[in-house]
Amino acid sequence: TVLVVDFGAQYAQLIARRVREARVYSEIVPHTMPVSEILAKNPKAIILSGGPSSVYEPGAPTVDPALFEAGVPVFGMCYGFQLMARALGGTVDNSGAREYGRTPMAVTRPDSTLFEGTPDRQTVWMSHGDACSAAPEGFTVTAKTDVVPVAGFENDEKKLYGVQYHPEVMHSQHGQQVLEHFLYRGAGISPSWTTTNVVEESIAAIREQIGDKRAICGLSGGVDSAVAAALVQRAIGDRLTCVYVDHGLMRKGESEQVEKDFVAATGVRLKVVDAEERFLTALAGVSDPEEKRKIIGREFIRVFEQAASEIVAEGREAGGGDVEFLVQGTLYPDVVESGGGTGTANIKSHHNVGGLPEDLTFQLVEPLRKLFKDEVRMVGTEVGLPDEIVQRQPFPGPGLGIRIVGEVTRARLDLLREADAIARHELTAAGLDREIWQCPVVLLADVRSVGVQGDGRTYGHPIVLRPVSSEDAMTADWSRLPYEVLERISTRITNEVDEVNRVVLDVTSKPPGTIEWE
Ligand code: XMP
Repeated sequence: TVLVVDFGAQYAQLIARRVREARVYSEIVPHTMPVSEILAKNPKAIILSGGPSSVYEPGAPTVDPALFEAGVPVFGMCYGFQLMARALGGTVDNSGAREYGRTPMAVTRPDSTLFEGTPDRQTVWMSHGDACSAAPEGFTVTAKTDVVPVAGFENDEKKLYGVQYHPEVMHSQHGQQVLEHFLYRGAGISPSWTTTNVVEESIAAIREQIGDKRAICGLSGGVDSAVAAALVQRAIGDRLTCVYVDHGLMRKGESEQVEKDFVAATGVRLKVVDAEERFLTALAGVSDPEEKRKIIGREFIRVFEQAASEIVAEGREAGGGDVEFLVQGTLYPDVVESGGGTGTANIKSHHNVGGLPEDLTFQLVEPLRKLFKDEVRMVGTEVGLPDEIVQRQPFPGPGLGIRIVGEVTRARLDLLREADAIARHELTAAGLDREIWQCPVVLLADVRSVGVQGDGRTYGHPIVLRPVSSEDAMTADWSRLPYEVLERISTRITNEVDEVNRVVLDVTSKPPGTIEWE
């Protein structure tokens, strides 16, 4: 394992992903973890992430110099580099020598461990306020910029390395190569972490955990629960039963996809609960977004609990042993964020299949809790799930219920389903699925505007297209879709969907707008 010490500002997750891209397993630990605890994890190497802009900021995190004396290879990046420089006796000046963004850098030691085989001049991504003006004793300076005399240093004997820039970001040329040089050459690690290994190890771990007992898994239609279920199914076969609650708020063809494609790919035992009536009744007369979300979350849990107890009872009658385990598709970023997280404001109460109550008396099986989203997709492909499931864009748990601004009714859902199916079809046909993060299609059910169609006046509803690009849904930008594609979607929706006479485009980034409208 390579440990990435997190000094904040979200760089650590990106570094951990890059290390894994180099086929070396990595985990993130908070900078508050004592060195003894870090070393007890037996890391093969340690990476210090970027962080605040200055080591001189009051309350800025520090590093215990003992970390550099344990014989474990260390790579400091940006803030981590400056902490390293200071801790080992180098000089970091608070002289206003700041650099931000793409910066030309000169490699002064092309034969160095980190830079060998990369060009003498490269553009790298800088983001710092202070500058290292003298490397610690025993270190070789490996790079410099116009502003910073020491932009990289290394001590090969002690296996300590550092760079002022951010090799993990895309804008740094040869960043991945430099990182790999550290891992393979500096730390002597061989790349062996592959999706095949991940699948084998996690199947073994699931078998070990569940033993000869049974498990259930809630399928949401999303990637995570599907991949988690497929892994567990591989491990324990028919002793897993999946539950799919059809709340009637899914898009066109979506429930069928879960019922047919997923079962076809995995052969899993599936219990489908048709709960449309129940959800629509509970939602009748409700327009407030938060209230809708709470109702959907509450009903979901009730239906799921009931289905679970039916499965338990049926299994007992058949002499099949107890259902003691519940499978969930929790991902690594959730684990990292809930571990080191400070409280954030509740913008929207997210409903998830993952949000089941704690008094549900199951033990959790979370086979994805060490994986990033892109790795989950690779695992999904490895266990034979089709692209339609594995490459699915995110879709919110409350479904179309939060894409109808106003009361949710069956007629409105049907209308939105048609409009959404057209938009999705055209986006897919234009080859844009991978380019956009997702494209909510929203019905403004309480708004009407005047139009003209054929010879007559119409008074219909607007449909909003909300295509966004994003890395992680925390922030997003509106996607600049080609006009021809927008035109096709608009023409088709207004022609083919009754009661819709206007299509509008949402050109708001997040923040200030959220991705979903409710
Ligand atoms: P917002 O609207 O908060 O959405 O910018 C961020 C991402 O989360 C998805 N989303 C949800 N996913 N349950 C989910 O599982 C929810 O309640 C929920 N609400 C929003 C949204 O589609 C986007 O990808």
